Amino acid sequence: MARRVAVIGAGAAGLCAARHLSARPDQFVPTVYEQTDRVGGTWVYTDRVGTDEHGLPVHSSMYKNLRTNLPKEVMAFPDFPFDSSLPSFVTHQEVLKYLEDYTDHFQLRKHIQFLTKVDTVKPVTGAGQTLWEVTVSSVEEPEKITTQQFDAVMVCNGHFSEPYIPEIPQASYFRGISLHSHDYRSPTPFTGMDVVVVGAGNSGLDIALEVSKVARRVVLSHDKELVVSKLPRNLTQSTGIKSFRSPRTVEFKNGEELNADAVIYCTGYSYSFPFLTRECGVCVERGRVSPLYKHVVHTTHTTLSFIGVCNKICPCPQFHLQVQFAMAVLDRSLVLPSKEEMDKEVERDYSERLESGMAPHHAHVLGNKQWEYHVELARLAGCQPLSKALHSLHASVLSERSTDLCGFRNSNYSITGPDTWCKESVLIEQD
Ligand SMILES: Cc1cc2nc3c(=O)[nH]c(=O)nc-3n(C[C@H](O)[C@H](O)[C@H](O)COP(=O)(O)OP(=O)(O)OC[C@H]3O[C@@H](n4cnc5c(N)ncnc54)[C@H](O)[C@@H]3O)c2cc1C
Ligand SMILES: *[C@@H]1O[C@H](CO)[C@@H](O)[C@H](O)[C@H]1NC(C)=O
Ligand SMILES: *[C@@H]1O[C@H](CO)[C@@H](O)[C@H](O)[C@H]1NC(C)=O
Repeated sequence: MARRVAVIGAGAAGLCAARHLSARPDQFVPTVYEQTDRVGGTWVYTDRVGTDEHGLPVHSSMYKNLRTNLPKEVMAFPDFPFDSSLPSFVTHQEVLKYLEDYTDHFQLRKHIQFLTKVDTVKPVTGAGQTLWEVTVSSVEEPEKITTQQFDAVMVCNGHFSEPYIPEIPQASYFRGISLHSHDYRSPTPFTGMDVVVVGAGNSGLDIALEVSKVARRVVLSHDKELVVSKLPRNLTQSTGIKSFRSPRTVEFKNGEELNADAVIYCTGYSYSFPFLTRECGVCVERGRVSPLYKHVVHTTHTTLSFIGVCNKICPCPQFHLQVQFAMAVLDRSLVLPSKEEMDKEVERDYSERLESGMAPHHAHVLGNKQWEYHVELARLAGCQPLSKALHSLHASVLSERSTDLCGFRNSNYSITGPDTWCKESVLIEQD
């Protein structure tokens, strides 16, 4: 009998789950629950902050002028390229259109229940197997609650919605504008201001650059190695914030001070799975979800999987492999090691990270390790590995980005063969 699989979320990860599950109707029947009225998750831009028109917290962290920081050639699902007429670095609207096209191409809409929020997921054990009781409510009529049983659950709810702001002494002293990048939409409100952008991750760098076009001055405050790229003259770097000395004074750890009008915290997000009941046995810390074998499959309840937990990756190609890996566990074409062995591997992976100097909240950061991880996932899932072109193209783009933050998006790339790519000739942009 076909296995009933509940998929939580219709962002890129949930759509990918639906695409692969629905391709094998004799074995799997997906039901995708999506709390909003459309597919695309974080790529659904809205001017709103706080709550949406149904009173739910705004899920998306997208901002108005965002263009991707990866070329479409490495962003795409391996079985569905972007429109070839687009440049490599596309707008968020174009990514959303891409995900909508993916949805329609694979006829996924019929599997999605929109405006339906998953409230609880609970394992029920009987007759030697675990089933999942999933309770959902209608977003428009919250008193409409239904519970259904499933053979498996794929959690695809994203992890860029729950802002994380580190504690900084006297932060409440500050009387200027203070916001997290989750609520950042456009640079306009910062026109003429002195702005501190905290954090030099993707969002911090990107937002600092766009704010510097209208602000008087932007200080990028972070404790990482200095950004080496050429930057606009009114964008400088300082260390992390030490404290707030007065309603407007930001004091940095290196002793510098700035009279700031606004502080934008680009300090990342926390994992959050409010619908998982305690019986699920999932431990959620700021930067770690455990115990997940290969960052995907729960080691006790192997029919509970998580797609898209990793960081510093090529998301869609990775989701494509993680979904097939989770499916190989479900259809038993992959025989997993014992729970003890899996737990041991999960702990080994984590302690190796700590020993190599990574922060405890970097439990799922892959970066350059993603490529061997992808090879491993494809081997375990028995599916086709990713093109080798992705690895070298991705590495090349990261290196270009690190030295040319302002200009790296002007290049176009193309994949020229199974393992090859090229950079197209670059035109100089005229102002
Ligand atoms: C600002 C920003 C820029 C980015 N730039 C890039 C980029 O350039 N290139 C790139 O490849 N990636 C980029 N990413 C990463 C991006 O997050 C991934 O590409 C991908 O879209 C993640 O998909 P997801 O499905 O895991 O999560 P999401 O897109 O967040 O989707 C999760 C879905 O689950 C739904 N949901 C959540 N909880 C529930 C519930 N309880 N019940 C029902 N539904 C629920 C949400 O409504 C949402 O639709 C960026 C991310 C951000 C935030
Ligand atoms: C990149 O490709 C787009 C779309 O094909 C084109 O409009 C643009 O000029 C190209 N950019 C460069 C720098 O070649
Ligand atoms: C800051 O620098 C940017 C980029 O060089 C420029 O567009 C902007 O006008 C500058 N802002 C001010 C107030 O000088």
